Amino acid sequence: MPTPNPDALHFLQTRRSRPSKTLSMPVPDRSEVEQLLTIAARTPDHGKLEPWRFIVIEKAAMPRMAEIAEARGKALDLAAEQVKKGRGQFDLGHLAVAVVEVHKPSAKVPELEQTYSAGAVCLALLNAALAAGWGANWLSGWVSHDRAFMTDALGLESHERIAGFIHIATETTAPPERPRPNVGEMTSWVNE
Ligand SMILES: Cc1cc2nc3c(=O)[nH]c(=O)nc-3n(C[C@H](O)[C@H](O)[C@H](O)COP(=O)(O)O)c2cc1C
Repeated sequence: MPTPNPDALHFLQTRRSRPSKTLSMPVPDRSEVEQLLTIAARTPDHGKLEPWRFIVIEKAAMPRMAEIAEARGKALDLAAEQVKKGRGQFDLGHLAVAVVEVHKPSAKVPELEQTYSAGAVCLALLNAALAAGWGANWLSGWVSHDRAFMTDALGLESHERIAGFIHIATETTAPPERPRPNVGEMTSWVNE
């Protein structure tokens, strides 16, 4: 018989993100962030390629991120609302970790599997932060898919891209429960 871990199960059954807009200071200090990153890096990774790395965006860097986002939005001729949205996560941000997918050449592990692993790292970091009592939220936005933003703001190389920005700070208000999927409807069983 399996031995359940009731605390872990309770956490997984009740976990939920905290919208980044509702987060405030303080944020975890560097050693606390390192602990969260250590947990996040304990993620399934086919072939031990480590196809990811972290860039911790601290408060002092947020205005620069916001300015680059705005410049890129204007260069792309985006609507004013989109430009505002693009810079918004940095205007409001306190601490965010850019989880960077680093594509590693491999004859055995397809690029898609490396992408899945990077996504899993995002969830692991989000869950680690929530389990540690922080408010946290996984954001993307058009900036996270814009090659020039990746280069100008974060110095990414062409074989790298942003898997997600995980914002981590202090929760101010509890979010309303989000409707959850009907697992029965999306699950089929194969027994022959
Ligand atoms: C790849 C990815 C990108 C996301 N980007 C955004 C975003 O830019 N803005 C946003 O409001 N929510 C975004 N979300 C949704 C939230 O992170 C999250 O799914 C939602 O708040 C509920 O999460 P929970 O199941 O942890 O409560 C994104 C989710 C994923 C998986």
